[in-house]
Amino acid sequence: MDFDIKDIGLAEEGKSSVDWANKSMPVLNSIKKRFAKEKPLKGIRLGACLHVTTETASLMETLKAGGAELSLCASNPLSTQDYVAAYLVKHQDIPVHAINAEDTDTYYRHINSVLDTKPVITMDDGADLVSTIHREKSHLTGDIIGGTEETTTGVIRLRNMANEGKLKYPIIAVNDARTKYLFDNRYGTGQSTIDGITRATNVLWAGKRVVVCGYGWCGKGIARRAQGLGALVIVTEVQPVPALEAAMDGYQVMPLTEAARVGDIFITATGDASVIDIEHLSQMKDGAIMANSGHFNVEINIPGLQNMARSQRQVRPFVQEYTLHDGRRLHLLGEGRLINLAAAEGHPASVMDMSFANQALCLEYLVKNKGKLQPAVYTVPAEIDEQVSQLKLKAMNIAIDCLTLEQKKYLESWQSGT
Ligand SMILES: NC(=O)c1ccc[n+]([C@@H]2O[C@H](COP(=O)([O-])OP(=O)(O)OC[C@H]3O[C@@H](n4cnc5c(N)ncnc54)[C@H](O)[C@@H]3O)[C@@H](O)[C@H]2O)c1
Repeated sequence: MDFDIKDIGLAEEGKSSVDWANKSMPVLNSIKKRFAKEKPLKGIRLGACLHVTTETASLMETLKAGGAELSLCASNPLSTQDYVAAYLVKHQDIPVHAINAEDTDTYYRHINSVLDTKPVITMDDGADLVSTIHREKSHLTGDIIGGTEETTTGVIRLRNMANEGKLKYPIIAVNDARTKYLFDNRYGTGQSTIDGITRATNVLWAGKRVVVCGYGWCGKGIARRAQGLGALVIVTEVQPVPALEAAMDGYQVMPLTEAARVGDIFITATGDASVIDIEHLSQMKDGAIMANSGHFNVEINIPGLQNMARSQRQVRPFVQEYTLHDGRRLHLLGEGRLINLAAAEGHPASVMDMSFANQALCLEYLVKNKGKLQPAVYTVPAEIDEQVSQLKLKAMNIAIDCLTLEQKKYLESWQSGT
């Protein structure tokens, strides 16, 4: 088997972490049991470019149980848990190509190793796999049934490809399932971003001025968790509706040029580039901390920061201190990469349970609908979203009410009013 990982000797450590995560993934486990019986993915070559974490290992086990032939590479150079990669190779016979802290050349070499297996379904987190296929290996698209995309940034890239008429096969935007973004982006990113920054810095949140750039699903979660720890939260936005929402949720809202002067900790979660730029870096206080939780490491202008610095040094793991010409010291965490995956362990398994249940069910849907879908970006079918929420509620032992016949009739009618 062709694989490229850090150290196969880490496999037992990986096994116990994956077993631990599996305990919090009841929905995915129930799908795994069904897949093992029904084999809906039998003989399907599946190429995955995902964060190589314990929860991803659970997803890989589920897909393997369903009969898929898998290969996996990382969707971010810093997010790979090397012990998980070792576990998947040793205990699951899955070819993994991922090494934590790999350089960009190795990152793309690993993507190409996955593509060498000629996948007929792709799974992406950020759309690097799909964009590599379309840029360099378009001959593969003829056999590809479809793909899935896990995150907001990837969905944006794919929609742009579709709008330009460049997308050559159908993709399901798993990110846009309600059982994904309402929980994964909001609660998962919210908690794990705070976790990553805390592990990297051991900072006390209470009383800090925390500037959250972007009040989308991730930003909402981060702001709420920071506030819960006693921080004074400031939100910056470019769209009026989320800005208004932030104001009415009780946060201060202001342009980043103003917030830059007062913030102690800055967290970007926008999916946009150069959100924290030279003009903001020029205003920040001595000791300010910056972290990013958006998909790519472009949200903070790092080359600009490097140019402004007279020196830099690593003061703790994941903390790079830049001393500027005027003597101020600014701190960048985790090289500006997703801080929750770089310095912590990513989302808790319980939330990935729903995201990856959507992934597994969407893959089954793609196989069942082979040849019927046009090259376009599709939303997750409503019945899948519903099924995932029902299974999660059941696993959490939560019952809900049912509509009575009278209520059903009322809700379907229009005649009765005032
Ligand atoms: N860290 C993780 O584990 C994780 C998890 C899920 C999503 N993500 C990534 O986080 C990013 C945000 O995802 P989301 O689901 O919250 O997206 P979203 O579309 O819900 O929200 C993004 C928000 O950022 C705002 N924004 C854009 N440019 C801005 C700017 N220059 N200044 C201030 N605000 C700006 C937008 O108006 C929008 O409200 C994406 O890159 C996504 O892929 C990361």
